[in-house]
Amino acid sequence: MRELVAETRLHVSDLVAPLFVREGISSPQPIASLPGVVQHTVDSLVAEVSALRDLGVKAVILFGVPATKDDEGSGAWDPNGIAQVALRALHASVGDDMVIMADLCVDEYTSHGHCGIVGSNGDVDNDATLQIYCRAAVAQATAGAHVVAPSGMMDGQVGAIREALDDAGFENVAIMAYSAKYASALYGPFRDAVDVQIAGGGHRKGYQQDWRNARESMREVFEDIEQGADIVMVKPALSYLDVIGQVRASVDTPVAAYHVSGEYSMIKAAAANGWIDHDAVALEHLTSIKRAGADIILTYLARWFAEYSAQ
Ligand code: PBG
Repeated sequence: MRELVAETRLHVSDLVAPLFVREGISSPQPIASLPGVVQHTVDSLVAEVSALRDLGVKAVILFGVPATKDDEGSGAWDPNGIAQVALRALHASVGDDMVIMADLCVDEYTSHGHCGIVGSNGDVDNDATLQIYCRAAVAQATAGAHVVAPSGMMDGQVGAIREALDDAGFENVAIMAYSAKYASALYGPFRDAVDVQIAGGGHRKGYQQDWRNARESMREVFEDIEQGADIVMVKPALSYLDVIGQVRASVDTPVAAYHVSGEYSMIKAAAANGWIDHDAVALEHLTSIKRAGADIILTYLARWFAEYSAQ
């Protein structure tokens, strides 16, 4: 009876698996603060994505970890940058059987760890950064990304990227916008995964949102839709279920939520201590994100859930 009347059902096709690919390694490297997640080689990445496809996962989002970084993050748009190399390999192996998304930002590629070009006053230069996002978007689309996902929270990024993609003939490449992205402490393990240390105070409060605020999220979401976003995202997820609910009630576009690294690692750490039941908590977390209104959930638990639900 409870099954019959349940309002919310989680399905493997709701999930997007975030994956890391690192340049210059010969075997996958574990990430200490993200148990069970690795930095892949291009080969192990291709194998993982085929396995995910066979398990029914419909989408992955790729993050590149370059061997060298510079001031502008040029690896983000270099056709031979690690993400572009990996996107071509993925496209060649799974083709259109899997939605291949590319995170579009430069923080993994910049020596200072910021999501853009740092001006002489030490602040990120919003408009100069838009230019390099456009180059990265075209590079990712050329390499085979079906969806680009700008995560840098620069004003006007969605409109600029849409125009650049259209001008380059990529009208069919979609944009999943990290629209309401908070300056959260829950990204800690992710920064280990991509080798990022942020210069100048170690935070992104100048461009990501203050977690005390909800109203500005709606403004960010509406602006992104106006500029051409196909999917809007709220990130992180669990501390922002109110925001997810509000966005869902206000727009018709698909809504995504990112269950981020810290949210994942807290489950793993507590479960490893025997303090919580891993599967029960993981299921409760993911289902509550869907109940709040997310259609799509980005989560490091994607493979676990695909195997768990196939049992
Ligand atoms: C920025 C980006 C971040 C995450 C996804 N894209 C980190 C940040 O804003 O510092 C975090 C994801 C996670 O914590 O799982 N390129």
